[in-house]
Amino acid sequence: MSGNDRRRLGIDRRTFIGAGLAAGVGLGVGIPLLQGLGGSTSTGNLLKSERPLPQPFTLPFRVPPTLKPTRTDADADYYEIVQAQASAAILPGVKTPIWGYNGIFPGPIIESRRARTTVVTHTNKLPVPTVVHLHAGRTPHTSDGYPIDYVYPTDRSYMNQHSGMTGMGGDPAMTGDVSNGHRTYTYPLDQRAAMLWYHDHRMDFTGPSVWRGLAGMHLVRDDEEDALRLPSGTRELPIMITDRSFAADGSLHYPSVDASLLGHPGVTPDYVAGVLGDVMLVNGTPWPVAHVDGAKYRLRILNACNARRLDLRLDPQPDGAMIQIGTDGGLLASPLQHEHFELAPAQRTDLIIDFSGFAPNTAVTLFNDFGDGNMSQVMRFIVGDKMADGFTVPNTLSAIEKLAASQSVVTRTFRFKTGSVDHMNGWLIDGRPFSPDDIAASAGLGTVEVWRLLADFHHPVHIHLNPFQVLSRGIDGPGEFDAGWKDTIDLRPAEEAAIAIKFDGYAGKYVFHCHNLEHEDMAMMANFTTH
Ligand code: C2O
Ligand code: CU
Repeated sequence: MSGNDRRRLGIDRRTFIGAGLAAGVGLGVGIPLLQGLGGSTSTGNLLKSERPLPQPFTLPFRVPPTLKPTRTDADADYYEIVQAQASAAILPGVKTPIWGYNGIFPGPIIESRRARTTVVTHTNKLPVPTVVHLHAGRTPHTSDGYPIDYVYPTDRSYMNQHSGMTGMGGDPAMTGDVSNGHRTYTYPLDQRAAMLWYHDHRMDFTGPSVWRGLAGMHLVRDDEEDALRLPSGTRELPIMITDRSFAADGSLHYPSVDASLLGHPGVTPDYVAGVLGDVMLVNGTPWPVAHVDGAKYRLRILNACNARRLDLRLDPQPDGAMIQIGTDGGLLASPLQHEHFELAPAQRTDLIIDFSGFAPNTAVTLFNDFGDGNMSQVMRFIVGDKMADGFTVPNTLSAIEKLAASQSVVTRTFRFKTGSVDHMNGWLIDGRPFSPDDIAASAGLGTVEVWRLLADFHHPVHIHLNPFQVLSRGIDGPGEFDAGWKDTIDLRPAEEAAIAIKFDGYAGKYVFHCHNLEHEDMAMMANFTTH
């Protein structure tokens, strides 16, 4: 099954055997897996923190800094990011070691204009190889962060010392540009304005790397969006939601089989279904409070949790509740009104919230109706004085080409199911674990394909390169949160959906996978090529 690449890394799926069978887990669906599935709103198991947690709504909301280009020329803006270990103040009274882009979590926000090239050079000062993927980027495959296109550490001594890492430390000529711990990613960004995000994507180790902090937001803007005069500046709030757990010493707690993230991939058997934290972080702060004017705001919300699904609702409800103007792939054709909004891992929503109807000092709480206890809350807004903003949500936001099944040149079916990966519980697409050599589909640029996706449990399925439209869920049409251009579909247990993808842009090899990061690491990923 696995190709030369995996063997050269000294990592073999067989390493799963030790973790699974030693703990007495049978083949296929083991008991710990089932515990994470029964009647729950997310596929995963709660990992409890080992220290007292902060009171919700005591710490201030903050927005990550916007990264400044190191230089700019007629064609492009150039950025530099150093991936480094750092210490963050997340919980009161203790420091948390993190892995951060420029040493912060979330990483800095990058802002780009449509069709203006953004070049980001990453330097890896971490003790493991990394991979950077710009999620939702319409990106040539050489810069897409293919799961084995590594940015090697500047200091490889860690890897050379690590037993079992025969390939990873010793063979710098293995793949791609591996010179001196740097890698340059070039993003043409010839695509609609939208909220993208960048995160680690290393084969077998994405879950723990993102959990430690390797995730940041990237906003693409364009003239179409500017013309709508949406709330901006301090009235546009990027909101990255991540659940995390903490060990007694304040460090991030994660059930890796091998905490060095250099040897055996995967999590301990109890967490094969997914890791759910018990602390809700918003832009890296637990349950923060934001002070807002009595005016309209644009909330750009990203679910960056490893496995947790969210059902967001404001209480008390603002006038008009949540007005959705955009989704994963940018603006909707016209606004949609929601009382609540479900968001699976990796999905984004773009909401206009009108705080002007509240009396000053009203506390408006963002709830998560899929969570229990403190995890049923996300953050709080304290409304200030009413301020005129002169903004009304336009009835027409964008022109969206509607894809139809009749345009499709081929219909493919992919089953996302649990199964055994070299005799241990894992996650498979059509019965196969991820291998860099195995091509599941090959699509012609300029063509439309319909993909039928079938799930056993919750699987947020994400496709690289091109966004898609949801045609149906079972025998019904798209769900109420499926409108517009999506890059991740929230498949629920026993659900079948059909999506239409228009392939365009760049020829090459890309991946599609479950964005429950534990499922992704435990092999629920496959390749497609475009030609
Ligand atoms: Cu957000 Cu393939 O990833
Ligand atoms: Cu999954």
